[in-house]
Formats: sequence, C-alpha cells, structure tokens
Amino acid sequence: MFIPNLLYLTSSFLLISSIRMLSSPKTAFKGNFYGFIGILLAIISSIYSSDVDNKFWLNIIIIFGAVLGIYSGLKVKITALPQMIAIFNSFGGLSAVCISLSEQLSFSPQYVMNTLGLVIGGITFTGSIIAFAKLQGLIKSKPFHFRLQNKLNLIILGIIIAVSFSFILKPNNTLFVIICFLTLLLGILILLPVGGADMPVAISILNAFSGWATVGIGFSLSSLILIIIGSIVGFSGSILAYVMMQSMNRSLKNILTGSFAKQSNASYTSDKIAKSGSPYDAAFIMENSQKIIIVPGYGMAVSQAQFSLKNMADILRKKYNVSVKFAIHPVAGRMPGHMNVLLAEAGIDYNDVFELQDINNEFSTADVAYVIGANDITNPLAKTDSSSPIYQMPILDVEKAKTVFFVKRSLNSGYSGIDNPLFYASNTIMLYGDAKQITDEIVKQLEQS
Ligand code: TAP
Repeated sequence: MFIPNLLYLTSSFLLISSIRMLSSPKTAFKGNFYGFIGILLAIISSIYSSDVDNKFWLNIIIIFGAVLGIYSGLKVKITALPQMIAIFNSFGGLSAVCISLSEQLSFSPQYVMNTLGLVIGGITFTGSIIAFAKLQGLIKSKPFHFRLQNKLNLIILGIIIAVSFSFILKPNNTLFVIICFLTLLLGILILLPVGGADMPVAISILNAFSGWATVGIGFSLSSLILIIIGSIVGFSGSILAYVMMQSMNRSLKNILTGSFAKQSNASYTSDKIAKSGSPYDAAFIMENSQKIIIVPGYGMAVSQAQFSLKNMADILRKKYNVSVKFAIHPVAGRMPGHMNVLLAEAGIDYNDVFELQDINNEFSTADVAYVIGANDITNPLAKTDSSSPIYQMPILDVEKAKTVFFVKRSLNSGYSGIDNPLFYASNTIMLYGDAKQITDEIVKQLEQS
C-alpha cells in the first residue's frame, strides 16, 4: 500500500495547489494543468491498487469518460458552462448511488457512510438533471410552485432521515429501495422552485453535495483518495455558494424556495425622465477625460461586446492618453468569474481589471463610469432601501463619477427586477442600444475625431 498511498498524497497535493493557483488569472493555466495531473494520478493509482482482476472493462470505461470529457471541453461554449457543470455533478451523484447499491448488494457493513452517500448522491443526481434541463431550455426555467411545496419537501426529508435510521439499525433491501426512491424524488422537488437566474448558486450547492456524497462513499469503500477529493469538492463548492449568496444578499432558504421571483414582481416603475445621449456625445466626453472606469455586466456578455471594449480602451489610452480601468463586481453576469473570463478572452490585461473592493473608492476621482449592460451591481437602493431584495448587497459606487453612461437597450430592470434610480440621476446619460453596437459606434467616433 506504500506506493498507492504516496501517489494519493502527491495527487492531493497537486489538487490543492491547483485550486490555489486557479484563484489568480496569472497562475490559472498552470493550476489547471496541476489539477489534470492530480486527477490522472488518482485514477491510475486507484486502478492499479484495486483488487479487480479483469481491468479490461475498467480501462474501456475510463477511455470512454476521457473522450467524453475532452469532447465537451472543446465543444461546449463558455455561456453553456453552467449546464455542463450541472450534468457533470449529476454523474457524481449517480456514481454515489451506484456504488452505494453495489455495497448494499455485497453486504458491506459500512451502513452509516453508505447511507449518507446514497442520500446525498440521490438528491444531487436528480437535482442536477433538473438544473441541466432548465438551463438547457428542455423544461421551463421559471420557478415552479405548487401549494404546500415546502412542507412536502420537509416531510419527505423527515421520512428519509427516519427510514435511514431504521436502515442503519436493521439493514434490509426494502428500506434501501425506499431511501433511494425518496432521495431521487426530493432532488427533483428541491430544484423545481429554483429560478433560472438562481441556478449558478444552486449548481454550486449541488457541486458541494457531489463532493460530500463522494466523502460518504470514500469512507464506505475505505478509499483515501475519494475522501480527500470529495472533501476538496465539498468545501470549495460550499465556500463558493456562500460567497455568491453573500454577494447577492440571498439566503439558502430564499434560493431553494424560489422566493426571489415572488419579491421581484413587486418592483416599482418610476415616472421621472432619464436623459439620453448618442455615441457621438459619449466619444466627445470620453476623449476629453483623464480617467474612465468601465463596469461590465450581464448585457455585455449577451451582446459579446468585450472585443469592442478592448478596442475602445486601447484607442482612449493610445490616442487620447486617458487612464482606463475595468471594475468587476463579484456577481456581475450570471456565473462566478463571468466578466473576468470574457475580458481575458478579448486580451484585456489582468493588471487593468480590478475587484470591487480595490476600485470602489476610485469612482469619486473618475471623469466617466461607462456601465455596459450592467444594472443591479450599480443600484444605490442596495445601500438605502431596507425593503429592497438587494438591500446590503455590496455595489459599485458608479454614481460618484462625474458622468455616468449606462449602455442598455431600455430602462428595464435587471435580474433583481427592481428599478434603478441612477438612470434618472443628474450626472447619468443613457446610451440606448445593444452594448456591442453602441461601443463600436463610439470607437468609430474616437477614430475619426
Ligand atoms: P443585471 O442587473 O441583470 O442587468 C443586466 C442589464 O443588461 C439589463 O438591465 C439589460 O437591460 C441589459 N442588457 C441585456 N442585454 C443587453 C444587450 N444586448 N445590450 C445592452 N444591454 C443589455 O446584470 P448585472 O448588473 O451584471 O448584475 C448581475 C445580476 O445577476 C445580479 O442581480 C446578481 O445577483 C445576479 N446573479 C449573478 C450571478 C453570478 S454568480 N454572477 C448568479 C445568479 C444571479 P435592457 O434590457 O434594458 O437592455
């Protein structure tokens, strides 16, 4: 056992270093490679230390999985990443259910951990399938509510816990099947009320669940590597979900009951008038500025305006000697790191991209805040209106800039469904239109003048 344990240790070291490196764009590529080698080592050492005599089918399955992984890695678009993660989480949940079943059939005495793996794995499996189906548009992504929904979920959870205890005290196949059926059902019921835009948080929670299911199975199989990898996935998924919920000022209960959608229907409309301008006006003000901060949001991703933004920043710097920085809110867009990935794709230098806490006090010294396809992450109601669903969500203080440009197609609200009073502020100019089109027109003006 010395060699496999040494390989497991090396693999764990590589995986932990990989997560550390993924936290910075500069080291992310290397971190990804470390993660790949770590998983490869874990797979190889697991196969060759296992007591399976005929490894032929094991190898075939692994090759099949590898081909599927490489294919999806190459083919899946960045915007479809959440669904890909959801379906991969479901594989993790399904594996936990299958291993738990095989342990039950081979009379394994590890009933506690095996049951834990089955329960968490079952919820993860069907929950992730529903998340995938909603994100992929296979079923309606709107929250699905019915009467007594939350009570029903609690009752099912209570029955699962009670039956699990009976099973652990007196194991038998009938109780095992009941637990299996109820956990699969609960996974579906828990995800039905989750709204499409709440999905990234739900997916992180399911990701953490798949990690905890792996830990349970790891204990029941006495597999060190499954326990280690499961803990890494469990903790990192939980921390990510927690950070996202904090940044959106959402609670786990609100997400799992879909209560956000109910609140957002109560949004108000304003009777004030918002000033609007043209790309020509924007170009004129920008070329006469010293400092511009660009704030990208979901609409930038929709219109794929990142390359136009890069052109605009380059020409402002080179031709007009303007300082241009990018400010990223932790939940801008619809998935963690959404904006960072898109800006990096356009070749925007990491050194020009700043997190909220590092740039927020610079807006007061900026001539222009160019808010492109972003809305909620700038809404000052988060600071002042305790009845607002985004109350206490940290926001980018764009209103402190001398001039604020909002590039969007209308005065419509964003994800939270609430009006943004900044649209009507005296220093705000709305630039109505598609984010990419407006930015391209500004670039054209900047080139001509
Ligand atoms: P939002 O508040 O959703 O605003 C995006 C704005 O983009 C919309 O108001 C929309 O206005 C505009 N838009 C859409 N398509 C456009 C286009 N083609 N061209 C120009 N504008 C366009 O986005 P945000 O400011 O990025 O904030 C993110 C929100 O999503 C937050 O509420 C956050 O809590 C939530 N959320 C984030 C995550 C993560 S992890 N990032 C996960 C779940 C939910 P028009 O329709 O008027 O154009």
